[in-house]
Amino acid sequence: MPTPSPNPHLPFGDQRTAPWYGRDIISVKQFGREDLEYIFAVAHEMHDMVDHIGTFDLLKGKILANLFYEPSTRTSSSFTAAMERLGGSVIPINEVKYSSVSKGESLPDTVRTLECYTDVIVIRHPEVGSAAIAAKAARKPVINAGDGIGEHPTQALLDAFTIKEELGHIDGLTVTLLGDLKHGRTVHSLARLLSLYKVRLNYVAPDILRMPAELIDELKAKKVEQAEYTTLDQALPETDVLYVTRVQKERFTDEAVFESVKGAYVIDPKVMKAAKERMIVMHPLPRVGEISPEFDDDPRAAYFRQMEYGLYVRMALLAMVLGKA
Ligand code: CP
Repeated sequence: MPTPSPNPHLPFGDQRTAPWYGRDIISVKQFGREDLEYIFAVAHEMHDMVDHIGTFDLLKGKILANLFYEPSTRTSSSFTAAMERLGGSVIPINEVKYSSVSKGESLPDTVRTLECYTDVIVIRHPEVGSAAIAAKAARKPVINAGDGIGEHPTQALLDAFTIKEELGHIDGLTVTLLGDLKHGRTVHSLARLLSLYKVRLNYVAPDILRMPAELIDELKAKKVEQAEYTTLDQALPETDVLYVTRVQKERFTDEAVFESVKGAYVIDPKVMKAAKERMIVMHPLPRVGEISPEFDDDPRAAYFRQMEYGLYVRMALLAMVLGKA
């Protein structure tokens, strides 16, 4: 998809022409390949800037509202760090129970309130479509930090950036997505984003946690090579990127069903003997047993480096939507 046209909610008479200025980031469907190359270039530059000068004033005076209706460690703190590294500041609302949400305030009203005080809003919410609802209510840019089992676009962008930085390219790779592919918003967004490249996608999941059929059909229509498995052994030897996910206990209504699949796959040094020497293992984290800590010292374990790449991508996105990149 080409770079979208400027945001209709821009203040009247604004002369800025940066393509992402004032825009919302709701879904990976908004991005074309050229957009990704641009984001990766800006993120790379942000990495250099942080390495060389730490904090700088690109967004001095700008304020971010970090509105989290669901728990988060990485996304919430990396957006905070990104804003502060760029010289801006943050209003954190991580415990909505202490805000007026607990009095029954609606999502649109909450967003309209926050935009009175801030320049950009990051939102995580348990319901699919909530970020789009927030974006419709707001005149300021809204960034989706995860909407239920829907999408997590900034995670997918940092995942793709990680692959590019670690392996040098994305075209031609075999990417194996493993675990809870039904509930995992990160894998939904990542699979869509990778469909912009020439990749082969393997899906490895228990029967009840398979990748949604609609998503497989969507990618099939784009001629993406895809294969489904219930065990890892067939897919692992050809894999360049193994993307491991947690079985999401919070999305199950029946605990017995969760128990039946929770330990379906465990990545450890023994399992990884069958994998290539040059490949990477990723995980959006948190992990709860699906990657053994014994594997952490293996150079192929990229999941901690992946978190750091997230800082640079989120710095790039904030700079873009605030017209500074
Ligand atoms: N990867 C990710 O979204 O982590 P958090 O839930 O800690 O934000």
